[in-house]
Amino acid sequence: MATNIWNPLGIRTSPFFQEALDISESDLRPIDLFVGRADEAENVLQRTLGGDSTRLLVSGQPGVGKTTFIQHVKSRLASEHGFAVSSEFCRVPHQLSVTALGADLLRAVVRSLRNVLPGNVLETLGGFERTRALVEETERRARQWSVSVLGSGGGLGSDRKRHRPAFGPDQFQDMLAELCSGAMAQGVAGTVVHLNNLENLERDPEEASLLLRDARDYFLVPGLHLLLGATPDFHSRILSVHAQVRSVFRPPMALAPMKLEDVQEMLQRRLDHLRIGRQEVTPPVTSELVGQLHTLFRGDLRGMLGALEEACYQALGSLRPAPLGLEEALPVLAPLYQGQLVSELRRAELAHLERLAALGEKDFRQADVIDHLGLSQGRVSALFSRLERAQAILPIRSEGRSQYFVIAGRARLALGYRAD
Ligand SMILES: Nc1ncnc2c1ncn2[C@@H]1O[C@H](COP(=O)(O)OP(=O)(O)OP(=O)(O)O)[C@@H](O)[C@H]1O
Ligand SMILES: [Mg+2]
Repeated sequence: MATNIWNPLGIRTSPFFQEALDISESDLRPIDLFVGRADEAENVLQRTLGGDSTRLLVSGQPGVGKTTFIQHVKSRLASEHGFAVSSEFCRVPHQLSVTALGADLLRAVVRSLRNVLPGNVLETLGGFERTRALVEETERRARQWSVSVLGSGGGLGSDRKRHRPAFGPDQFQDMLAELCSGAMAQGVAGTVVHLNNLENLERDPEEASLLLRDARDYFLVPGLHLLLGATPDFHSRILSVHAQVRSVFRPPMALAPMKLEDVQEMLQRRLDHLRIGRQEVTPPVTSELVGQLHTLFRGDLRGMLGALEEACYQALGSLRPAPLGLEEALPVLAPLYQGQLVSELRRAELAHLERLAALGEKDFRQADVIDHLGLSQGRVSALFSRLERAQAILPIRSEGRSQYFVIAGRARLALGYRAD
């Protein structure tokens, strides 16, 4: 008996899930569903294999496939080259201190090493016990600090003084070095740590670039290989600000939007993987609709998958059977995204968005539209950050210190997209 809208099509669950692929034993989103990007993957593998301590930034617009790409590379480093990796990654929060980053890196190294070394070997590595104590102490202090901030009502400054850290970056660095070199002595090729969504630090770029400068020595520990994922402006706004940091990172690996044939292949693989037994599978959407949304979302795979999934949930049924095309999808998607934009943006912002959309397909910078919108630089900058937060515009590339944007697919659908 059918329990969801996908079962009658011969598949278990939604083939349009938007989560990154996973390298643990995930049944629904295994890394085997990875397609394309062979040259980029080879390049990153070579760079990682080429040194005993490496750092690489994978940059790309939101939803282009950064996390999944890094997962793929990690899985190959583990299976083909004997590296220690973990399926998890460190989520970078909006605010981070050098000590917290040190503790996160240590935790991540231990997680990766657990996957290649038996517990009794891991625990005898030089520095393991001290690592455990250091991480526990960091956590205890972080908790104490937040409790006292909440409880005392006092200013942050006084709390900081009261709970001055008892240890500094040097100790974290020493522990990282001991663990990573100890692992290499046990035959591990290297230890990989995956830091994700570094663009979260962009709220305070100055603070973030100083943090990376202060944390620089963590990144140079022998045996440690860092894979970082971030949106395009992270490199120009934060990573390359201080020469000390810039010099230890190579130019970022920029992920281009996935080609349509790879997107079609990705969806076909998902359908095959989710197929129920030997049942025949009916594709939920036409390949033309996939092509149209692919063009519209300009490389934002997450946005495109979300739109396909939403179209199915809203329109698929006995009146409109699979596969859905644009004529069925558009009438449900346009009002949905219109509603979202109206609730997230003010009327004047919507009017500006429409004028930006009238510029057509070309990408644009803030400086390009000041005259067009008749606004000051300050107002355009505020407008862009509101539009970006509402996912109405999308940063697609940066050139020097300039950031280029396009109108996001959901906004184009909301503003009355018509297929040519
Ligand atoms: N090479 C690929 N092969 C198969 N599926 C992919 C590939 N790249 C991305 N995807 C799928 O596309 C979606 C978006 O990918 P992912 O989450 O990796 O993007 P992202 O760039 O990390 O996004 P964000 O900027 O939000 O962090 C996910 O559902 C993922 O499974
Ligand atoms: Mg991601």
